[in-house]
Amino acid sequence: MSIPPSRPAIELNGVTKKFATPNGGIYTALQDLDLTVAPGEFCAVVGPTGCGKSTTLTLVSGLERPTAGTALVDGRPVAGITPGVGFVFQNDAVFPWKSVLDNVAAGPRFRGQGKAAANTLARDWLRRVGLAGFEDRYPHQLSGGMRKRVALAQSLINEPEVLLMDEPFSALDVQTRSIMSDELLSLWELTRPAVVFVTHDLEEAIALADKVVVLTAGPGRVKATFTVNLPRPRNAQEIRFTDEFVGLYSEIWEALRSEVETAYARTTARSTAQTPDRPASSPNAQVA
Ligand SMILES: Nc1ncnc2c1ncn2[C@@H]1O[C@H](COP(=O)(O)OP(=O)(O)OP(=O)(O)O)[C@@H](O)[C@H]1O
Ligand SMILES: [Mg+2]
Repeated sequence: MSIPPSRPAIELNGVTKKFATPNGGIYTALQDLDLTVAPGEFCAVVGPTGCGKSTTLTLVSGLERPTAGTALVDGRPVAGITPGVGFVFQNDAVFPWKSVLDNVAAGPRFRGQGKAAANTLARDWLRRVGLAGFEDRYPHQLSGGMRKRVALAQSLINEPEVLLMDEPFSALDVQTRSIMSDELLSLWELTRPAVVFVTHDLEEAIALADKVVVLTAGPGRVKATFTVNLPRPRNAQEIRFTDEFVGLYSEIWEALRSEVETAYARTTARSTAQTPDRPASSPNAQVA
């Protein structure tokens, strides 16, 4: 008897998302987007700025609803904030008024766990993210990388089945960023949530993921999906020097480059069109 394929952790089917614009128009951010992520799969999403990457995550998390199409998590339509889904944002989303320990214990406490048990669990996770000894600090007393670790512990302590990450490391310096990639991989191995990791950094995407999804310049839809068959467990740094990695990079970049160029051409066209709005006294003012 054959084993039935497992139900996808995330399924977006023919998703379109339109937003009302301030001038009364409609802007289509996503158009007929299909995306499937299996349980335990690490999916990276890349695409030019403004193509709808963050919007895609908000549809999975339940912060927004699709205008058309369906968003499913664990086979169920997303309706409001979905239990079992963790979100790590680009900016720190830790509570500035709470200590590191209280920040990490917040999830279990919110779900009704007693203070002592929640604190024990939080100490465990802080040890795993390398922050043992920092329990009593406040977020502003930490470096950017340490705050990211708090944010990771805060999410992973809830053992989410789905972890959504929106450019989580983009504010970090290059060295800290590469250390965090490795730390993320070893933490991910512990509980193996399905991950959607949004990034502008194609190297980071390939180093981390099982598959890389390239979105088109907006409205976003899937242009191509690339399987990353690099061995695990992986060292996110060293893997970049392998021939397989370099080959994959140039293949995916080929798909991504034209979308980045399209998006860039649009923004430069827009800024040129806006030039006549400058005050007439400006030495740079141009007559249309
Ligand atoms: N709430 C909203 N109302 C109106 N337009 C929106 C809203 N949210 C996003 N948009 C528009 O939808 C498009 C996609 O936005 P989104 O934030 O998903 O892009 P992105 O791919 O995450 O970009 P970046 O790489 O710069 O973070 C953008 O043009 C944005 O202006
Ligand atoms: Mg974004």
